[in-house]
Amino acid sequence: MCGIVATVIIGKAFIEGRIVDNVTIEINDLGIITKISKGTFKGRFKEETFNFLKNRLLILPGAIDIHTHMRDFKESYKEDFYSGTSAAAAGGVTIVADMPNTKPKTNTLPVLEMRDKVASEKSVVDYALYYGVPNVKREIMGFERKAIGVKVYPENLFHNCREVFEELIKYVSSKNILTVFHAENPYLFKNDERPLDAEISGAVKVLELHRKYRVKAHITHVTTSYIVKLVKHKGNITIDTCPHYLLLNKEFHLKNKYFRVNPPLRSKNVQENLLKTLSLGKIDAITTDHAPHSSDEKFSEKPKPGFPGLETALPLLLTLTVKNIISLKDVVKLYSSNPAKILELHRYVGKIKEDMFANLAVVDLSEEYTVNSKTFFSKAKHSPFNGWKVRGKVKATFVRGKPVFIDGEIVSKKGYGINVKKYGGVFENVS
Ligand code: DOR
Ligand code: ZN
Repeated sequence: MCGIVATVIIGKAFIEGRIVDNVTIEINDLGIITKISKGTFKGRFKEETFNFLKNRLLILPGAIDIHTHMRDFKESYKEDFYSGTSAAAAGGVTIVADMPNTKPKTNTLPVLEMRDKVASEKSVVDYALYYGVPNVKREIMGFERKAIGVKVYPENLFHNCREVFEELIKYVSSKNILTVFHAENPYLFKNDERPLDAEISGAVKVLELHRKYRVKAHITHVTTSYIVKLVKHKGNITIDTCPHYLLLNKEFHLKNKYFRVNPPLRSKNVQENLLKTLSLGKIDAITTDHAPHSSDEKFSEKPKPGFPGLETALPLLLTLTVKNIISLKDVVKLYSSNPAKILELHRYVGKIKEDMFANLAVVDLSEEYTVNSKTFFSKAKHSPFNGWKVRGKVKATFVRGKPVFIDGEIVSKKGYGINVKKYGGVFENVS
């Protein structure tokens, strides 16, 4: 791999599964790591140099969040690609995958096209887009040029439009396109309640589809270890869960009625088992389900479900390493290298390695601080983790070799982020 060395980053880095002191990472003008050398750096570079050695900071592979809602369009008052990707950058997240439950829905080719345009004009980190289940067959073919995969919602899974849905599943199966499932059965909802049975029934349905069509399935925001066991036992399906299902439970919701989320927070017992399952290495990925709403919508008689998570996920995970519940290696696997594999981007990102993009999160593992949602870059200035003490502060975030966040500030320009579908093209430019 050649090209001009444009950036040099020096520090302690997480490379090949372990922390290595004093490494020099050379990056070319396309953002690709050209050389990693060990030992104290003695040379003198004319290029832009970032020295993280002095403060004993740790350079990690940049986080990748495969379930976020950037909103925008008619819901820009909740979040837009600039505020959402700024929140990502502040949280050490270098790629966000955006869900299609937008207004208008991202389930037609023209809307997808428009979404890509808006995202490319506003994003400060890289992004991937999911496509929603279309209403008509003619909107199925070709979405994969811009979208990384499909998102299936409970109402799709339990057939509001059986014919188009089946056609779509056949299409994605034939092309091995990632299909992310929100697995819940709406027929088992009781008024406002969404019991565990509804989620289990949803997961069983995904297993059936997987068996029938061999669809490349991923079940997102799983709340119970029961589904982890069921799915891992029966099929080659990947799963993720979110920090709120690992760290919060129903008792929290009873005391804080505004912090509603779907699927809901479960009992203490279910929550503790899920955390144990995570520590045993049975879960593939962590996502935030970053779901911002305005304060008016959130703190109302009927609070909208979901909350922002991009600025708290990595610090919360790093705090779990301090408590010895998971290891640093697990954090990298759950929030970077496995998500890279699930999105089939592992040739480009998910590791600090020569010939891969320099997508990096620089963290201070010794810094303890209190989460203050008022300071979020997200437009949603609330969090169920507000006031929590966490250890592991994100100090800098690099996307394709360029700093996007440093010491509390966004330093890249609006529109720097690209659709990950373009990664292959960037690499083709290298001779
Ligand atoms: O809590 C949630 N919020 N769950 C979802 O499935 C959707 C999300 C949203 O878009 O607000
Ligand atoms: Zn979601």
